[in-house]
Amino acid sequence: MQNNNLVNKVAIITGGGKGIGRETAKLFAMQKAQVIITGRGEAALKETTSLINAQGGRCEYFVGDVTSEDDCRRIIAAVFEKHQRIDVLINNAGMSMRGLFEDTDLALFHKIIAINFSGAVNMTKLALPKIIESQGSILFVSSLSGLKGLPGIAPYATAKMALTGFSESLRAEVHRHHVHVGIIYVGFTENDENKQIYTAKGELLTLKRDKNSDTQKGVARKLMRAVQKRRQVMYLTAAGKIANLMYRIFPRLSGYLIRKYAMKNKGYKSK
Ligand SMILES: NC(=O)c1ccc[n+]([C@@H]2O[C@H](COP(=O)([O-])OP(=O)(O)OC[C@H]3O[C@@H](n4cnc5c(N)ncnc54)[C@H](OP(=O)(O)O)[C@@H]3O)[C@@H](O)[C@H]2O)c1
Repeated sequence: MQNNNLVNKVAIITGGGKGIGRETAKLFAMQKAQVIITGRGEAALKETTSLINAQGGRCEYFVGDVTSEDDCRRIIAAVFEKHQRIDVLINNAGMSMRGLFEDTDLALFHKIIAINFSGAVNMTKLALPKIIESQGSILFVSSLSGLKGLPGIAPYATAKMALTGFSESLRAEVHRHHVHVGIIYVGFTENDENKQIYTAKGELLTLKRDKNSDTQKGVARKLMRAVQKRRQVMYLTAAGKIANLMYRIFPRLSGYLIRKYAMKNKGYKSK
């Protein structure tokens, strides 16, 4: 897939039933790609699939947990069996948490790593031979906290940073196969009303987002552009770009500001 034409391309979007993944699935379908969305909960996948298909797009879904190697293997095999190719893999499935490390259960820490990092590794490993055949694209959805660790989300930031290392190694290795590997650092984005994250103890918490957020549609457009233009790295929003420069040029000042302001965020306070 050496051009930006997505017509008839087979694109797998993990976590495609909700949020940013759902908006990305809609956009890919509008470009006439064959879209496959995955996730753990069938209801959201079914709803998104019906919506896309009702609007003339082509979408299918597979229920599966990215942390399960068996689920990933089953999904990739089924997609290939049906469509005989895989062109795009967007590793979007992810889940955040709030809580200081000192309050965080180890089981929750490892779960966040499994969802946000190991899940992307699983899907990438199993889809890679087919993506090499199509000279396709692999995109990782990271976060601005994958650039600099922020308080209250240590496992999430760790997982997103791990995606950076993994994507860089992979990019260097598969360049010879003409495979595109991209990573996109997403900033604060509007949420579905019922979006859930974990507490430090592993309980589910419904998240509210303030008004200064990117739209899901806007982020989805950037994800699609990253695939079409085969972009290696994208930092979202002007604020994200400025923060990234600050972290590089003024690391100590950045650390001070993060300690001073981010620690004040209510959600990060230790109980
Ligand atoms: N929203 C933001 O402010 C923001 C900022 C930076 C980065 N991001 C990143 O953007 C991506 C999408 O976030 P979002 O805001 O759209 O979140 P979301 O609305 O909660 O969607 C997350 C998606 O991931 C799926 N998922 C979660 N755990 C999974 C698992 N173990 N296996 C398979 N699928 C799983 C969910 O489906 P099920 O629950 O049905 O499994 C859901 O479809 C994530 O990688 C997130 O880290 C978001």
